[in-house]
Amino acid sequence: MNISSARLLAIESSCDDTSAAVLQDGLILSNIVSSQAIHAKYGGIVPEVASRMHQENITLVVDAALLKAGVELSSMDAIACTAGPGLLGSLTVGISFAKALALSLDIPFISINHMKAHVLSHFIDDPKPAFPFLCLTVSGGHTQIVLARDYNEMEVLGQTRDDAAGEAFDKSGKIIGLSYPAGPEIDRLASLGNPVYPFPIPQIDGLDFSFSGLKTAIMYFIRDEVKKNPDFITQHLNDICASIQHAIVEILARKILTASKHYGINEIGIAGGVAANSGLRKRFTELGKEHKWNLYFPAMQYCTDNAGMIAIAGYYQYLEGNFSSLDTAPFVRGMD
Ligand code: KG4
Ligand code: ZN
Repeated sequence: MNISSARLLAIESSCDDTSAAVLQDGLILSNIVSSQAIHAKYGGIVPEVASRMHQENITLVVDAALLKAGVELSSMDAIACTAGPGLLGSLTVGISFAKALALSLDIPFISINHMKAHVLSHFIDDPKPAFPFLCLTVSGGHTQIVLARDYNEMEVLGQTRDDAAGEAFDKSGKIIGLSYPAGPEIDRLASLGNPVYPFPIPQIDGLDFSFSGLKTAIMYFIRDEVKKNPDFITQHLNDICASIQHAIVEILARKILTASKHYGINEIGIAGGVAANSGLRKRFTELGKEHKWNLYFPAMQYCTDNAGMIAIAGYYQYLEGNFSSLDTAPFVRGMD
């Protein structure tokens, strides 16, 4: 068998999306994602509910990925699956399923780090960044700047000390009465307003992030304004959203600018659900022009949690013969 001619089934279940993808020779043939809308009514992800939903969905999602790709399960060369970081119960469903498949088909099992896979989502479609590149991964669960030297050689340069960027959108949105997840709605309303309220940008040394101070500042600001004018939120909703978005985007932009200057790297990738934010795209595009960056945004289906990125990460491990033991356990935190 030619090792570069690999056919992989990949599974992702680290949080609230059950996903399966099929990859052939580095190309994604299918990428099926089943998102769990049920969490919206609780205002956030309920881990126990998430793992139960993964159990209900996983067989259907894997079957759909095989069907869309037009391939048989028995034709796979390896099974790749997220081992962490993520929610333990959610990860356990995917990894148990993946290991059982690898065992029964007698093919290699490849354990994948979810954060590395977000970085490698840039290698699914063209244009692809050149190494070394800096990746900002921003979602409801993560905020990280990673220096990728190669497909399998990455260093975390900075990460959030408290909330993730998407969480900052969602929690700020909750304060002003928006439903979960508030990020897309803040984005939409922000485009109708102006960032007239100067929320604080935390000054943190190095490349780490912090969003909890911003959340608290928004909370007190809204409390004080509503005391003076009970209709403040409804009357100024667009400007409030524009101000929240401006502050979050500015926190992200300043750190990536610092990282780019410090490491002398102008290949910059943005991954994760928050990469959909139009204010972020506009600001990064402006910065990119000013500082001569080559900017990369994966297609949205590969930005939010998906098995396509697990498949591409699995492919590069497969090429190196980097297989995992069936004893591999899920892990909650960490890059390795
Ligand atoms: O990657 P993702 O789908 O799931 C994980 O969190 O892993 O990201 C979801 C997050 C949520 O916090 C959501 O509010 C945020 O991404 N988000 C956005 C936008 N679209 C999704 N935040 C700001 N603007 C958007 N357009
Ligand atoms: Zn993720």
